[in-house]
Amino acid sequence: MKAMEIKPDIFWVGAIDWAVRDFHGYITPKGTTYNNYLLMDEQITLIDTVKHDFSHVTIDNIKNLTDPAKIINLVVNHIEPDHASSLDKIMSLAHDATIFVTDKGKKGLDRHFDTSRWKFKIVKTGDALNTGKYNLIFIETPMLHWPDSMMTYVKEVRLLISQDAFGQHIATSSRFDDEFIECASFSELEDSVIDYYANILMPFGELIKAKIAEVQKLGLEIDMIAPDHGVIWRKDPGGIIQKYLDMANGKSSLSVAVIYDTMWHSTELMTLPIMQGIKDEGVDCKVIKLRSTPMSVAIKEFWKSRGCLVGSPTLNNLMFPSVTEFLTHLRGLRPKNRIIGAFGSYGWGGGAVKEAYEEFKKMKLEIYEPGAQVLYRPSREDNQKCYEFGREFARKVKAYHAKFI
Ligand code: FEO
Repeated sequence: MKAMEIKPDIFWVGAIDWAVRDFHGYITPKGTTYNNYLLMDEQITLIDTVKHDFSHVTIDNIKNLTDPAKIINLVVNHIEPDHASSLDKIMSLAHDATIFVTDKGKKGLDRHFDTSRWKFKIVKTGDALNTGKYNLIFIETPMLHWPDSMMTYVKEVRLLISQDAFGQHIATSSRFDDEFIECASFSELEDSVIDYYANILMPFGELIKAKIAEVQKLGLEIDMIAPDHGVIWRKDPGGIIQKYLDMANGKSSLSVAVIYDTMWHSTELMTLPIMQGIKDEGVDCKVIKLRSTPMSVAIKEFWKSRGCLVGSPTLNNLMFPSVTEFLTHLRGLRPKNRIIGAFGSYGWGGGAVKEAYEEFKKMKLEIYEPGAQVLYRPSREDNQKCYEFGREFARKVKAYHAKFI
């Protein structure tokens, strides 16, 4: 897709990746975009590059506006390869450009490229760059979500170029939120925002709140937020900031995600009365089988719900491997403000439910004990116990959820 002007003389020059489905293990059924921006000011300034495979796309977009050799400044907001791996190709054309990057970003680029011939300017929060009619202000955002990360604010047009933050993995020909909502829906866009936050930004809620407060304290008014993935927020940039604050503050729906796997369907059979018990307490419930669901979707569903029940059969006295994988993934995302419990079936020694609780205790989650267990196959009595387990868990979820209202 050709370059598009998003503010006077500021152009999106990125690439749309319609085909990517596995983004370093994060499943992206809707593809993604790699957004970067070119300021056609007195000093031509490029902000970010794109994934290496798409370097020809952004170079074509730039060439349709100017000779890349005329680029004077190149801002690297984030060094992860989906945004910086075209840097060598761009620098081979923009040989005189100075790269504006954080100290940590420079150290990272030194590990990825031969940077010995490149000119650098190390920047920190509050540093500014005048490009002619525009003034750029840099805002470091360390660990949002890499140590090098920063954002660039274009003062005169109140534009925040936010790198990964506020992004979504959606390949679309719509460049703006309102366009996307018109041709798809707000709920589809919101679901993509939640998916992205859950899988990438979940560990950083406190940092997000602190950084948003810092930006507000700097008095930077924001009319548009241009992230490095997905659509640009021009209709309601305040709305996406509030959405991030809500998620960082632990907001979720009053619902339960039952996330399980099964060997010979016994654990699966337990999900039915458990779900009925949850539903009969007036709490919505979604049941997710791990081997039928991409990990990133299971993580998103966990994040959307106030409560989670994890179900696993016992295999060699341990959890089923897919359940272990899910909990390992979840622990790395440092979840908070959710309540969790476990259930499962076993044949002789047992062990899966015990191990699940040991994993839960490594996380900062509210834990509901004891779990529900069934020997071999659920009997009529077991089904009733599972139903009561679901009901009691739902009651606990409602009580816990009330703390967040
Ligand atoms: Fe889109 Fe952290 O890279």
